[in-house]
Amino acid sequence: MVIIALILTIAVSFLFLFQTGYSVVDNFDQFQSIGDGKTLISKEGSFELGFFSPGNSKNRYVGIWYKNIPVQTVVWVANRCSPINDSSGLLTINNTGNLVLLYQNRSVVWSTNSSKQAKKPIVQLLDSGNLVLRDEEDGNMETYLWQSFHHPSDTMLPGMKLGWDLRTGLKQRVSAWKSWDDPCPGDFTAGVEYDRFRHTFPDVYLLKGSSKFFRTGPWNGLYFSGTAKPKPNALFSYDYVYNDDEVYFIYNLNNKSVITILVMNQTTSHRDRVVWNDEDQAWKIYISTPKDNCDKYDVCGANANCIINDNPICQCLKGFKPKSPEKWDLMDWSDGCVRNSPLNCSEKRSDGFIKFSGLKLPDTIHSWVNKSLDLKECRAKCLSDCSCTAYSNSDIRGKGSGCIVWYGDLIDMRQYSDREQDLFIRMSHSEIDESFYCGSCRWRCFGDAITWLFHLQERLKR
Ligand SMILES: *[C@@H]1O[C@H](CO)[C@@H](O)[C@H](O)[C@H]1NC(C)=O
Ligand SMILES: *[C@@H]1O[C@H](CO)[C@@H](O)[C@H](O)[C@H]1NC(C)=O
Ligand SMILES: *[C@@H]1O[C@H](CO)[C@@H](O)[C@H](O)[C@H]1NC(C)=O
Ligand SMILES: *[C@@H]1O[C@H](CO)[C@@H](O)[C@H](O)[C@H]1NC(C)=O
Ligand SMILES: *[C@@H]1O[C@H](CO)[C@@H](O)[C@H](O)[C@H]1NC(C)=O
Ligand SMILES: *[C@@H]1O[C@H](CO)[C@@H](O)[C@H](O)[C@H]1NC(C)=O
Ligand SMILES: *[C@@H]1O[C@H](CO)[C@@H](O)[C@H](O)[C@H]1NC(C)=O
Ligand SMILES: *[C@@H]1O[C@H](CO)[C@@H](O)[C@H](O)[C@H]1NC(C)=O
Repeated sequence: MVIIALILTIAVSFLFLFQTGYSVVDNFDQFQSIGDGKTLISKEGSFELGFFSPGNSKNRYVGIWYKNIPVQTVVWVANRCSPINDSSGLLTINNTGNLVLLYQNRSVVWSTNSSKQAKKPIVQLLDSGNLVLRDEEDGNMETYLWQSFHHPSDTMLPGMKLGWDLRTGLKQRVSAWKSWDDPCPGDFTAGVEYDRFRHTFPDVYLLKGSSKFFRTGPWNGLYFSGTAKPKPNALFSYDYVYNDDEVYFIYNLNNKSVITILVMNQTTSHRDRVVWNDEDQAWKIYISTPKDNCDKYDVCGANANCIINDNPICQCLKGFKPKSPEKWDLMDWSDGCVRNSPLNCSEKRSDGFIKFSGLKLPDTIHSWVNKSLDLKECRAKCLSDCSCTAYSNSDIRGKGSGCIVWYGDLIDMRQYSDREQDLFIRMSHSEIDESFYCGSCRWRCFGDAITWLFHLQERLKR
């Protein structure tokens, strides 16, 4: 009995020694915890996790920040809206293997909600800035029961996905901090919108509350149709994944020693791409969106084009006229534009298309996409449906592939001079007769040429 008691005492004090003498590394298991004042540091020292107080607040939050830059930049917060008001916070793993943040040793302030329970749960801060919960017994180091990258705060780090996992239903969105002092989500958010049942084409929106504020435009295989075209020597590269399992965009660094993030800013209502400048020891804004008046969502109303160097900036699309001319002249563009000549779907072959080059593609909320149709099939698809108003390739790489069609009014377009994508907008043939053109005539114009010849023949008959 005495011996057993002795062994137990030694074992317990050893455990105690081990725990207190433990110099914090990048992980902890269910016998350890992180109290206020202690931190986890990722293996290569890129990121640190611990307790912090934002701005002038005295509240304590658990967050992750860059370890290797002197300006504390918090990229993720656990208890965003549930601050702790003293230093009793304790981050630990509970009996069912979830990561929990405790207040005064008992109340759960925040927790993960993994549905699977690990045999030997371990929490680790990775050098990507991702905080992960995994099972040490699981041979696969990359199977996570929970990860902070799935629950972004206001910052998109390299390697983080913004989008939807269609298998689990998980939506990954970013949301600005309410204020400098309060990491609770403000109303300025960003995410991918997409209707999987109607097969709409995914688009990325910045929202203020529930109103659209800015739209990147759909991904065209190379870039978002409504954002700055990436430079070949850019510090980072985007990728966009869109299949039956998931829809997301992600960016990765081209040079690992560059530090750059995308941050939502509630104060300015901008999403900023910032880059750490070592020389000045400060963050520099690389791109800020929205960047000008034409980036404001739907600024010109329906069926209009925003041309930033024109005065005024809004013009009806060719074939359209202001719906309310008096308001339009006073630069109230909210009513948008209507057709000069109505479409006549009942008459076979009465409609054709005008090609528009360099437009930001219209809002895809009323769209339909099929990646396996070509442009000719796309045209036929659009013509076969009276409510279809435009079509385009969904991917402009190579000769172009895939098909997007739009229904109803065309919303939120702007003119670019450096875009390769063409948008074919449906017109009554009376518009087409006057304005048919076929810039650099290629096979893709063949359909238009046929329509034009058809109408020419009709006209000659008359
Ligand atoms: C901290 O919060 C708890 C619970 O919300 C409250 O009971 C307590 O008075 C607060 N303490 C301080 C110092 O504000
Ligand atoms: C562990 O935490 C999770 C999440 O808060 C909770 O659902 C579960 O009941 C906790 N388990 C125990 C044993 O406290
Ligand atoms: C936390 O709980 C443990 C076990 O219930 C107890 O031994 C310890 O004194 C508590 N600490 C605080 C600060 O309340
Ligand atoms: C827990 O699950 C709920 C509902 O699925 C989700 O809204 C919440 O963000 C999750 N919390 C964490 C910390 O993962
Ligand atoms: C990566 O960036 C660092 C720091 O800006 C620079 O010194 C280095 O030359 C870059 N490497 C490459 C391959 O561009
Ligand atoms: C938001 O922008 C303001 C003004 O430029 C700046 O002071 C602040 O640091 C920014 N906040 C974030 C979270 O980047
Ligand atoms: C559509 O075309 C048909 C046949 O030419 C004509 O009878 C009808 O009036 C037209 N409708 C409209 C709205 O122009
Ligand atoms: C896309 O088009 C292909 C070829 O016509 C067809 O087999 C497929 O069912 C279509 N997909 C959807 C979602 O309509």
